[in-house]
Amino acid sequence: MNPIIAGNWKMNKDPVESRALVQQLLELTGDVKNREIIIIPPFTSLSIVAELTRTSRIKLGAQNMYWERSGAYTGEISGVFLKSLGCDYVLIGHSERRHIMGETDEIINKKLKAALEIGLISIFCCGETEKEREDGRTEEVITRQLQHGLKDIEDQVHKMIIAYEPVWAIGTGKTATPQQAAEVHAFIRSRLQKQVAVLYGGSVKPDNVDALMSENEINGCLVGGASLKPESFARIVKFNR
Ligand code: 13P
Repeated sequence: MNPIIAGNWKMNKDPVESRALVQQLLELTGDVKNREIIIIPPFTSLSIVAELTRTSRIKLGAQNMYWERSGAYTGEISGVFLKSLGCDYVLIGHSERRHIMGETDEIINKKLKAALEIGLISIFCCGETEKEREDGRTEEVITRQLQHGLKDIEDQVHKMIIAYEPVWAIGTGKTATPQQAAEVHAFIRSRLQKQVAVLYGGSVKPDNVDALMSENEINGCLVGGASLKPESFARIVKFNR
């Protein structure tokens, strides 16, 4: 399995800025082999990024979706539309959606089921808060997120990617050490019935990616802030073990 490097742009980059960023990324990563590169822009830039990356090795993902295929759900986006735009991936259960938008494990479960039916590969995010880690509850929290998120679909987890993103490491510059990440990745693997790729996310930068990717347990990275600058994202894609 090739290592997977995914860039989650969050609510950044308007369509004009998105075009410029992708054009630079295409130049900087044109020579990359043996890596899966996924770009996850805001919905409003998906069609532009899809058009620019069509003949490249860069794959496209969306940051969220609704669980119904169509209907009276004002403001929501169907996974079917994402698929028809050229998305192969969708982020489900990102910590910002859990903590800012109030997404529950039950909502996340509905979305994971819908993505499976549509044939989108979910990047299913889990991770503990700082308080939960301090209280020694990391494994308990991850177990709950996996159990409830994967209710009735655990046997299909091999069609997804798991992203371990400790909430205390997201956007804080406080990266989990490679050992801390590897420990939780091993735990996640031990809880699942099937082989699955597990990505690490949380302040991944050009200067810590090599050490993180040296851990066998870490199959790739989900990058936020550092994916917004072409040089830093390209350097992360080209990590050295
Ligand atoms: P940062 O890399 O900015 O910490 O964000 C991580 C993240 O949330 C990726 O989904």
